[in-house]
Amino acid sequence: MTPPRHFLGLDTIEPALLRRLVDAGLALKRARLQGGAERHPLGGKSLALIFEKQSTRTRVSFEIAMRQLGGDALVLNSNESQISRGETPADTARVLSRYVDAIMIRALRHETLSELAAYASVPVINGLTDRSHPCQLIADVMTFEEHRGAIKGRVIAWLGDGNNVAATWVQAAARFDFTLRLGCPAPLRLRADVLAWAKAEGARVELCPRAEDAVEGADCVVTDTWVSMGDAPDKPIDLLRAFQVNEAIMARAAPRAIFLHCLPATRGQEVSAGVIDGPASVVWDEAENRVHAQKAILLYCLAPEALP
Ligand code: CP
Repeated sequence: MTPPRHFLGLDTIEPALLRRLVDAGLALKRARLQGGAERHPLGGKSLALIFEKQSTRTRVSFEIAMRQLGGDALVLNSNESQISRGETPADTARVLSRYVDAIMIRALRHETLSELAAYASVPVINGLTDRSHPCQLIADVMTFEEHRGAIKGRVIAWLGDGNNVAATWVQAAARFDFTLRLGCPAPLRLRADVLAWAKAEGARVELCPRAEDAVEGADCVVTDTWVSMGDAPDKPIDLLRAFQVNEAIMARAAPRAIFLHCLPATRGQEVSAGVIDGPASVVWDEAENRVHAQKAILLYCLAPEALP
């Protein structure tokens, strides 16, 4: 039997395929906006969406993506299912594989995703774990390229917490060949294994102890919430105050630099209202692009011959 085409992480997918998914997402968006004849390559297919954590964008964008492609999606909140009573990811995978054509999971622990994928006979998609958020990065690269052209060779600055989204930006730097400057306080720096992976891949990832150095001349400034779901209550968020993206910080970036944030945002913490609601911000395009990125990922998993 052919193994299922999972979408688990940027680190496990070849650069050429990731490039194809970004281009496909942009093409699918253009086709939708041009209002041509609808194509339904996923007609009759069903996607299960498992959530161990809350979501707005990931849930809605996957549901809408399936509808636009002619398929169906159903949501399984873990607290309303046997998952919260201890049914294993392996057993859940084996059962759901008999019902649906693909499974997306937002998991508290990356190991849950890995176990699900190991036992599922249908494709499994990573909708965020404690280690990575690869669907988000397909939408983010799309958004950068819509506004600023090819991301290859450009400079992206990440400010704030060295969290799962930052780790996925590191993977993206290796896969899409751009420079990533990480401005994170030392105690909240990225996991050492992620940085070691980037080094082994030859990625251009620079650690910047000062926010000002990270953003100098950057084409794009990115941040994320300081308090993610599942964070320890004693997380030292005071250390992050020097890494807030505000007007003074954006003024150091390149003249046409854009601002990205995967959302939800807390104005006055990781970003000032003046930046997220200002002219450099493309966060609403970024959120919109989640739908088209999900369509590209779903087509790769379920009907690669229909990828544009
Ligand atoms: N960015 C993101 O994944 O948003 P949600 O948590 O709302 O899904």
